[in-house]
Amino acid sequence: MILMSMLVAITIVPVGASYLGGFSKAPEAEDTSDHGLIHGLLGAVAAAVLEKSTWAVLALILEIELFTQEHYKQSIEPEENLSDLYKDVFLFHWKEETTHAIMDELEWPRENKKLTPAQRDQAIDEVIELVAAVDGILQAQCAADVGYFLKICKGSFKEDEIARIKAGVLKAYRWQYIFSGVEHPRFQKLFIDLTTEDQRQRINAALAPLNGNH
Ligand SMILES: [Fe+2]
Repeated sequence: MILMSMLVAITIVPVGASYLGGFSKAPEAEDTSDHGLIHGLLGAVAAAVLEKSTWAVLALILEIELFTQEHYKQSIEPEENLSDLYKDVFLFHWKEETTHAIMDELEWPRENKKLTPAQRDQAIDEVIELVAAVDGILQAQCAADVGYFLKICKGSFKEDEIARIKAGVLKAYRWQYIFSGVEHPRFQKLFIDLTTEDQRQRINAALAPLNGNH
């Protein structure tokens, strides 16, 4: 959930400059902790977001709004053993995200009308760069989380088992933070409306290596 909050916060950066201070700094040189690494990556993604076109950023934001909703629907709403208060907090967050997604679905096509075909083509490259930046965070978060699990876990694992744990966690993170949004029917509908077959193939080719095992 921490990572999700970070990603959602990143999307606020272009909208509210006041958030920028929290994400624009590189980690201190001596800070080699996982926190420092992830903070540094977040800074890099926030900087990348600020450099990209509004079209590309809106694509990323819609993807994030949709995966946030999907996370609630798949992992919280059907779970009977969670506390009612906890479920309520996420229900109301889900409702808030619903409104955001509706606004993004209006904004993205509106922005699309302003671009020339060449500008839109450039924006596709930027979407690919943004997804790569997000994946950098996921890889770092995966390494940090698995490292922590191995440290506190009472059992010991063989090398191949550790490799399987890492692969499983990274696969889950990529599903939650990239593919559950990209493959969401509402994202796909707009994506198909706003792009050419060639552009979709470029994005799909860039995503394919991340999607090898889900
Ligand atoms: Fe949102």
